[in-house]
Amino acid sequence: MTDISQKSAISFLRGISLRQVRLVCGLVLFAYLLSHFLNHALGNISLDAMDAGVALHARFWQFTPIAVAFYSAATIHAGLGIWALYERRQFHWKAIEPLQLVLGLSIPALIVAHVVGMRLGHTLFAQERGYEQVFYGYWVLLPYKMWLMYAVILIAWTHGCIGLYFWLRIRSFFKHAAPFLLASAVLVPTLALLGLYQGGRTVVQESASPEWQKENLSPQQVGTAAENSVLQDIADDFLLGYLGLLGLAVAARAVRFVAERRVGMISLSYGNGRTIRVPAGLSVLEASLRHQVPHASVCGGRARCSTCRIRVIGDTGLLPEPSSREAFVLSRIGAGGDPAIRLACQLRPTADLSFFQLLEPHPMSANAHASHPQRIGQERYLVSMFIDMRGSTKLAEKRLPFDTVFIVNRFLSAVSLAVIACGGQPNQFVGDGELALFGLACDPQTACRQALQAAALIATNIDELNRALEHDLPDPIRFGIGIHGGEVIVGDIGYRDHMVFTALGDAVNVAARLQDMTKSLASEAIVSEDVCKMAGVDADALPTQEVSIRGRVEPMIVRTVADAKVLALLIEDVVAV
Ligand code: FES
Repeated sequence: MTDISQKSAISFLRGISLRQVRLVCGLVLFAYLLSHFLNHALGNISLDAMDAGVALHARFWQFTPIAVAFYSAATIHAGLGIWALYERRQFHWKAIEPLQLVLGLSIPALIVAHVVGMRLGHTLFAQERGYEQVFYGYWVLLPYKMWLMYAVILIAWTHGCIGLYFWLRIRSFFKHAAPFLLASAVLVPTLALLGLYQGGRTVVQESASPEWQKENLSPQQVGTAAENSVLQDIADDFLLGYLGLLGLAVAARAVRFVAERRVGMISLSYGNGRTIRVPAGLSVLEASLRHQVPHASVCGGRARCSTCRIRVIGDTGLLPEPSSREAFVLSRIGAGGDPAIRLACQLRPTADLSFFQLLEPHPMSANAHASHPQRIGQERYLVSMFIDMRGSTKLAEKRLPFDTVFIVNRFLSAVSLAVIACGGQPNQFVGDGELALFGLACDPQTACRQALQAAALIATNIDELNRALEHDLPDPIRFGIGIHGGEVIVGDIGYRDHMVFTALGDAVNVAARLQDMTKSLASEAIVSEDVCKMAGVDADALPTQEVSIRGRVEPMIVRTVADAKVLALLIEDVVAV
């Protein structure tokens, strides 16, 4: 592995948070749920359809690599749930987050007997339970279990849907997808419950006949009394162990509570005259939420946005060290070397603390997730392009101000027309420079291709402009373009009536730096290698360079482009293929 790829791998691993691990595991479990529920829904057709479906379901989920992934995901997800029971002190969305946690923690206890009976019964004693045997057990012998199953289905599905909602709600497509997701969220469990009801009813009717019993209740299918007693013991032990773990987590919370009270209360001073008293151990953001102090936290305390960051006033020596995730986020915003800059959602001070919030919270961006979800921003992949006109200061020195404005406006309209023609959006104008965004309404690959095509078209348009103004200008207009893509937050930024829609994030900053570098690297455009790869173009003909970007630990690979018009050829090649 090369040095760069090793560093990238380390950086990638440092960037993974516990919440992301929980999310990935949760997605695996949700996929299982979906597959199992669709299987139950086949009961609306017939028991035979259910049996055929479950054979496919089992073949997929018992395929060794899938089974390993599934059981690992289940173990990790449950473990992180227990950890959250211990660790969480303050919930951002007061009712739904604790509900989500309680629903999730109840699932293992509710399904243990079913899982042990089905899986271990097969593994230990080669029992062959299918829907018929389960329905007979739950609908005929112990009907309370039927209600338990209905309850588990609703609990597991609700838990999964809440998790999905928290994950998807800031995605750009969510607004459009929400009605379909809601319809599926209602339809799938309804069909599953109806399927179980139909299947159970069939078994209740048919099981009265001795033939049916002979065919479906053999010891091979339902197990012997001794086997089932072993399975029951295992299920009981597991349940006890699990409840013990939950009890331990609750006890650990109590111990922590007492220990923190012993350490005492600490004061947090916000630098604007406001001071609150909280138990030591709360994060600064949790303390703000507890005392209803507005505090910017766009990602909801997930250490993903850095909007909660604070500057600590005074001695930083007593502060706990940043976790690797916090250090990673701080390094991405160029604050890695400053011990006074910390993320409020991650910092848990143990002594009095004074600080300033670095991003002023306001009603639309701080804690307003529930009331204005569309205004606080969405996280999405965008390609940012910075275009800057070269030598406009020199131009202004030799011309009348109106004349200069006229030329700069001609430049910006030539650029904007190219951006719009290729599917992008001119977003901000700063002096003689422009930020254009690609990908607001398309997928990442299309966005990257549009940006490359736009850079080429900008070069063509500026050539035409230079020809039109050749008698007016001492030298042709020159320009620099920086292009980079990545996950950013898009939303309304500004103050009161002066809000603008724009993008914020590392990818935008990097594009600006690449544009700056076009001067020192004597290029018309600099495109990050990531964008070329995402666009799927063969950029081998363009020189590569490893460059250091201020605020990023690792260098990045870029392609330098002397004449931006050649970028059109790359796009033509992929389109032709
Ligand atoms: S709230 Fe987003 S990083 Fe702290």
